[in-house]
Amino acid sequence: MTSSIKLWRNARIATFCGIEPWGWIENGAMVTQGEAVLWIGQTHNLPAEYSASIDQDHDLAGACVTPGLIDCHTHLVYAGNRAREFELRLQGATYEQISRAGGGIRATVAATRAASEDELLALALPRARALMSEGVTAIEVKSGYGLSEADEARSLRVARRLAQQLPLTVRSTFLGAHAVPPEFDGRADDYVNAVCDWMPRLHAAGLVDAVDAFCERIGFTAQQTRRVFEVATALGLPVKLHAEQLSDQQGAALAAEFNALSCDHLEYISDAGVASMAASGTVAVLLPGAYYFLRETQLPPVAALRAAGVPIALATDHNPGSSPTLSPLLIMNMACTLFRLTPEEAWRGFTVNASRALGLPKTYGVLCAGSRADFVVWDADHPRDLVYRFGHHPMQHLIAGGVDVTDRIGLAPRSKTASASPSGNGAPSAIFKAAL
Ligand code: NIG
Ligand code: FE
Repeated sequence: MTSSIKLWRNARIATFCGIEPWGWIENGAMVTQGEAVLWIGQTHNLPAEYSASIDQDHDLAGACVTPGLIDCHTHLVYAGNRAREFELRLQGATYEQISRAGGGIRATVAATRAASEDELLALALPRARALMSEGVTAIEVKSGYGLSEADEARSLRVARRLAQQLPLTVRSTFLGAHAVPPEFDGRADDYVNAVCDWMPRLHAAGLVDAVDAFCERIGFTAQQTRRVFEVATALGLPVKLHAEQLSDQQGAALAAEFNALSCDHLEYISDAGVASMAASGTVAVLLPGAYYFLRETQLPPVAALRAAGVPIALATDHNPGSSPTLSPLLIMNMACTLFRLTPEEAWRGFTVNASRALGLPKTYGVLCAGSRADFVVWDADHPRDLVYRFGHHPMQHLIAGGVDVTDRIGLAPRSKTASASPSGNGAPSAIFKAAL
């Protein structure tokens, strides 16, 4: 059976295809078939062959349409919260001090180990739905709060189960080298050996799409990170890195040596680190949520990254310790206000460049003929409006793989504008004719 052909018209579309500002299409229309975009352009250019074969006709009443957002850095699977640490930090304790005193990541590891797999899934599902309610159609989920083979496998399985339960593309990243668990206290090298030992089995079980590490004073050294990357590379797995978040460990240069998909955080990256990322085509994933929440003052070198041509992506970095937000739109606003990205850079950072940071096919993160029909219908005239406002809920419809999934995230479709009408004999509706 051929899948139905849908027309989405009367839209103002940011495609992010090519280098034209926003890839903007005024008075736009899109034809989808199954999971793919068949055609996109200005309504008056719609080829007759398509207008004759439309099964469903959606009038978007002038709403703004963008590609689905891609949250390329999340730690979505965990139990417990760290609100008490938030209070301690407000009283003067630092993130590093709390971590060294056994709190921080280790506190979340204890809570996560104590939860069952089903409980972890039940906790992660509403987080994923919250992201989707702001237009997210693809996410990365990192492990890293299990830190034993069985507990890491459990977190990675939860990531896989999220993709089965929700109309969401999910990429799972093995972050065994996130922190040294208590049973390896003082034996970080032994723990890295263990991580390297688990990796082939986790990969063989089909649980791993990429491998990450936390290269930091309170994480792992560059030398330890290298060992993790060597095993990942031997298995054919792409790598990425939490690099230069709190200090310059020259992690970015190391990651670039392994052709990393992305280096993330980067507040303390050096000029040499930027140059090596540019040479390897590694994406810089900036995480203003963590910068804001930890009250950091060292800004990532956005101008240097731009000048070197390093693609910049953004993500929520959702996690209970340093970025407990589930709002990609707020992150885009912060990227502009705190890091001085332009609104268009913020959007490209959450779409086309985020897709690249995850190694997704080129059909993700853009809207053009042949791309995946993941898109968002917004209550806005232009995507810049969505970055400028914050703390609001402007999504009207979420379309994943060509299907309106708004009701699957617990939101009733807000149909102020959109209407679907079966096109009976395949003829364009009266409104559509008027638009022509
Ligand atoms: O991306 N930097 C390491 N990982 C997380 C924080 C994890 C935590 O504090 O639980 C991050 O910010
Ligand atoms: Fe992170």
